[in-house]
Amino acid sequence: MKVLGIDIGASGVKGAIVDTEKGEMISERIRLETPQPATPEAVAKTVKELAKQIGWKDGLIGVGFPAIVKKGVAHSAANIDESWIGTSISETLSKATNCPVVAVNDADAAGIAAVKFGAGKGEDGVVFLITLGSGIGSALFLDGELVPNTELGHFQLEGMVAEHYASNNARKKFDLSWEEWGKRLNKYLKSLNRLFSPDLVLLGGGVSKKFEKYGEYLTVKMNVKAAELRNDAGIIGAAYHAKSKMRKSS
Ligand code: BGC
Repeated sequence: MKVLGIDIGASGVKGAIVDTEKGEMISERIRLETPQPATPEAVAKTVKELAKQIGWKDGLIGVGFPAIVKKGVAHSAANIDESWIGTSISETLSKATNCPVVAVNDADAAGIAAVKFGAGKGEDGVVFLITLGSGIGSALFLDGELVPNTELGHFQLEGMVAEHYASNNARKKFDLSWEEWGKRLNKYLKSLNRLFSPDLVLLGGGVSKKFEKYGEYLTVKMNVKAAELRNDAGIIGAAYHAKSKMRKSS
């Protein structure tokens, strides 16, 4: 099935048409700037523009969104405008595009892609996909089944919210070298290990492409790998998740 996958992030709104059987993007990937402030009205306008540029009409849209998402509604807003809290993402974006929309947390979307089509495929036990971007997002899987909305970028680390200490944004904001940031990330992963003893941790987000620059500082005794689908996982997973939800409800 063809589904438009959209990944809404703090800095960019990215989308492409996805073949949900193959887990591949089959159109050009379009990126528009996330409007500031990223209010529901402004983001809806951007999503409408993205669907228009891709030529998407009537078909199903799957959206990854950087917040706790329950039944299509946003329940937090760490990296997006606060006015989203209590707002239905699916209804807002469906109205703007005239298409059915299914929303899911952005890290959960990337994790779904990794487990169905990427480095997490066929992995049993406790598996995490951790996205390192403007924030830190987490997706937890037990024997391939998602436990949604884990929000593990928000525990306390070194007296700070973990994502303010070890995200890719923190690396840029504090002007950290790869070594300094790698050591912070290592502390983050050590905490994750202490709390969950995962069997596998996949690192996603744009910075996962640069794994060779910081991988050597990850001394934590845990199975850690860069996620193969990299930055496209959010788009592919959002589309796949939407298709699965529609199948279940029909
Ligand atoms: C949000 C999460 C999101 C992550 C990555 C965090 O600040 O709370 O919901 O998955 O950023 O975007």
